[in-house]
Amino acid sequence: MSARHLVLVGMMGAGKTSVGRRCASRLGRSFVDTDDLVEANAGTRVAEIFESLGEPAFRALERAAVADACASPDPLVIACGGGAVLDAESRRALRAAGLVVWLRASPSVLSDRVGRNAGADRPLLAGAGSAPAAATLERLAALRAGTYEASADVVVDTDGRTVDEVAGAVVDVFENEPA
Ligand code: S3P
Repeated sequence: MSARHLVLVGMMGAGKTSVGRRCASRLGRSFVDTDDLVEANAGTRVAEIFESLGEPAFRALERAAVADACASPDPLVIACGGGAVLDAESRRALRAAGLVVWLRASPSVLSDRVGRNAGADRPLLAGAGSAPAAATLERLAALRAGTYEASADVVVDTDGRTVDEVAGAVVDVFENEPA
């Protein structure tokens, strides 16, 4: 099995956090979520950072959180916020430090998973009811698909699969990757 980090990327609602936690417990590793690291470092919520400091400030904090996670001497499972790999430096750091898995989901599945209160925790979907949130997810998913593909070593499709099934597929790939 790889001693590298296992890194999950993909859109909001792809299941990075729930799948990541499950993978971490199967692998006996710690789990970190870059949004949690940002919040711990900033002492406030992601939504509040977007509102009071703006998205560029959030992205700078996110880049630092990615660098911190990559620098961990213990191999981790790292779930990245959906936009983390838009940053070229973060993409390079993640690819160098771990196996990067894109959890891919279709826009309708993403919007079912983020649910009706999508905007409460996800500022990019804020101010939108469930229909506009779905449209935003579809637009972002289309815009970002190429970046996720270029960022990832492996793609795992998640539509129609449970968290356990996806985690099983991810762990299989990870355990069988060449060292
Ligand atoms: C974002 C995704 C969020 C969070 C922030 C921005 C994005 O994380 O980092 O709201 O740009 O896609 P999740 O993907 O964990 O929801």
